Amino acid sequence: MFSSKVIVVLGLALTIVAANVPGAPRVLTGDDLKDAENTLNSSLQKLASGDGPNYQLGKIISATRQVVSGSLYKYEVELVDGNKATKKCNVSIWSQPWLDNGIEVSFECPGEDKVVKKHSA
Ligand SMILES: *[C@@H]1O[C@H](CO)[C@@H](O)[C@H](O)[C@H]1NC(C)=O
Ligand SMILES: *[C@@H]1O[C@H](CO)[C@@H](O)[C@H](O)[C@H]1NC(C)=O
Repeated sequence: MFSSKVIVVLGLALTIVAANVPGAPRVLTGDDLKDAENTLNSSLQKLASGDGPNYQLGKIISATRQVVSGSLYKYEVELVDGNKATKKCNVSIWSQPWLDNGIEVSFECPGEDKVVKKHSA
């Protein structure tokens, strides 16, 4: 009687803890991929209309999302720069929209230094 109650309480506690453990990166498809594309496009737009860099999305080759105190998106993408040149880059967006300037975007493009920018949600 007593012990089964303890087990239930313990099970509940473990479930709550599990819900806060960062998840593994998940490859996105379908609507999740569409959402991730929207997230990326709105970041690119914010940065282009702020202090840059100025990129447009060419296409997404692959994207993952991971739950880590917010969401961490990682994209392998083709970006189109201001000169209409296309390059293949790795972009990550760490989204913590409850913070000031809580969206951190980093760009890794071939032959260039990594660029990290922050903007508001
Ligand atoms: C993202 O931006 C690109 C380039 O501007 C556009 O072709 C694409 O349709 C946009 N995607 C979404 C989901 O709005
Ligand atoms: C993008 O990420 C992949 C996998 O981690 C890596 O092999 C590749 O070199 C990266 N590309 C750039 C441009 O940093």
